[in-house]
Amino acid sequence: MKTRTSSAPLSKNEHLLKWVEKMAELTKPAAIHWVDGSQEEYDSLCGLLVQNGTFIKLNEKLWPGCYLSRSDQGDVARVEDRTFICSLSKDNAGPTNNWVEPFQMRKKLKELFDGCMAGRTMYVIAYSMGPVGSPMSQIGVQLTDSPYVVVNMRIMARIGQKVFDVIDKGDARIVPCMHSVGAPLAPGQKDVSWPCNKEKYIVHFPETREIWSFGSGYGGNALLGKKCFALRIASNIARDEGWMAEHMLILGVEDPKGEKTYVTAAFPSACGKTNFAMLIPPAPLQKKGWKVWTIGDDIAWIKPGADGKLYAINPEAGFFGVAPGTSVKTNPNAMAALSKNTIFTNVALTPEGGVWWEGMTDEPPAECIDWTGKKWTPAIAKETGAKAAHPNSRFTAPASQCPTIDPKWEDPAGVPISAMIFGGRRATTMPLIYQAFNWSGGVYMGATMGSEMTAAAAGTIGKVRRDPMAMLPFCGYHMGDYFRHWIKMQKSITETPRVFHVNWFRKDANGKFMWPGFGDNMRVLKWIVDRARGRGAAKESPIGWMPHYQDLDWEGLNFPKEKFDELMAVDRAAWRAEVMGHEELFLDLHDHLPKEMVYERELLICRL
Ligand code: OXD
Ligand code: MN
Repeated sequence: MKTRTSSAPLSKNEHLLKWVEKMAELTKPAAIHWVDGSQEEYDSLCGLLVQNGTFIKLNEKLWPGCYLSRSDQGDVARVEDRTFICSLSKDNAGPTNNWVEPFQMRKKLKELFDGCMAGRTMYVIAYSMGPVGSPMSQIGVQLTDSPYVVVNMRIMARIGQKVFDVIDKGDARIVPCMHSVGAPLAPGQKDVSWPCNKEKYIVHFPETREIWSFGSGYGGNALLGKKCFALRIASNIARDEGWMAEHMLILGVEDPKGEKTYVTAAFPSACGKTNFAMLIPPAPLQKKGWKVWTIGDDIAWIKPGADGKLYAINPEAGFFGVAPGTSVKTNPNAMAALSKNTIFTNVALTPEGGVWWEGMTDEPPAECIDWTGKKWTPAIAKETGAKAAHPNSRFTAPASQCPTIDPKWEDPAGVPISAMIFGGRRATTMPLIYQAFNWSGGVYMGATMGSEMTAAAAGTIGKVRRDPMAMLPFCGYHMGDYFRHWIKMQKSITETPRVFHVNWFRKDANGKFMWPGFGDNMRVLKWIVDRARGRGAAKESPIGWMPHYQDLDWEGLNFPKEKFDELMAVDRAAWRAEVMGHEELFLDLHDHLPKEMVYERELLICRL
């Protein structure tokens, strides 16, 4: 018996129609809505979200086209401990992923999804990760009972009729993505503003390329194109097909001759990827003609091109950025990008109907409503330590609104990559910048990268957490095999990107950051570009190539040579301890570790 209403299907693809029908039979929604992706549909869904209390429309004069949303307090971030890679064999998921036997997991999911959309509308979102029709793009279809997800997906990916049209051509393989907030409504039951479920499951089946997400409406748990598809499932596809799906920003550096050099960079969360992707060079370097262009701030899909170089696209269409700390001082380009047509989640609401978060201005507003809906004042904050915005509060903003968006950001062929940068938050040991001797040294550099834990995370403050290539929560298969795939990639190219490691966070003996960071990172980036173009000088060190003091452009910054030497110091005792730390990770992965990693480690020990 079918009581539901349905909008007309926007696809003629029989497999898709059958799958939607089957999933509707399982989840029992009250209605089905095929998402066409139009502005009218977006506006009407935002209107519905305002009506439901999920959205607050912001002051149209101050924040045109913007909305604020407050999540359930138990649904504020990605849930790594509830994220599963259900490959056929546990060995394929490896020791860094949660694994459940797929048959058992499917049984559990069937129970969870049975009737889970009752009383709600099921939305059918066809989406393309990467420009529609690009040979580097991939297609997914997400079924969701969350209109919040639909409107966010419209910013973060290319969605709607144009993607159904690609599907109807018939040659694209589609990744099916099931999503439910897990909060069915009984007849007459009043909805809450942020429906979700205490029980959460973020599940990936790599062999069948499926995603099932239950219980959360937040970020990477729910916008399935992002971490679930573009990293966890795509890393599996990429391994099979000989390309790379990486947790990397992509930027272009324009030099005084007007030549552009494209670079990718992988930093763990809270290490400034979005800021680096939108960097504004210091005035003297700008005057000389240096400029940074943005392609993406989070994910790169990288493939060998016919000319032997690696080419990258940003599979996303928007920025899902962390709000706190973002300001006109730290990142004016992000501020411009989020100034209109943006969805804010878990930031504070000001009396004028605007938004605020810690770090947005030097002076906090005299009062506002915090992310939990309570009154907040600086005095209350002082007394209770309450934050106005949640530390993981976000903006969902269209990438096209970034003033430095690169003219080639939607080029279907991608952009050629000349350098790759790894980095973390390290108070000691790691110099400001060094370059790997070669590709396998670079893979070792990425494989062993780490970042110090902050007070926000459980664990010992200052303890280094290894986060290989910033992919620890995102690699959809065995990490050891992932390193092997990196090593193998060099065989399919003739021009290998140069590999670098940066650390903006080294501290002096008094615990003060030694490097100013932000725009001044351009001085380091300039050296990286010069090296990649074969025109930058360097000296050899035990860990790799390093700039001499005079190899960086210091114009406009008073940074004495002694301070630079301290910032660049390679302390052999500290490095020997560092290498012992690498061993810990390698022990976990030993039976899948490529021998290059072992040899690189041995060579490094010898040089030290
Ligand atoms: C993100 C993350 O949201 O890495 O990009 O957590
Ligand atoms: Mn990320």
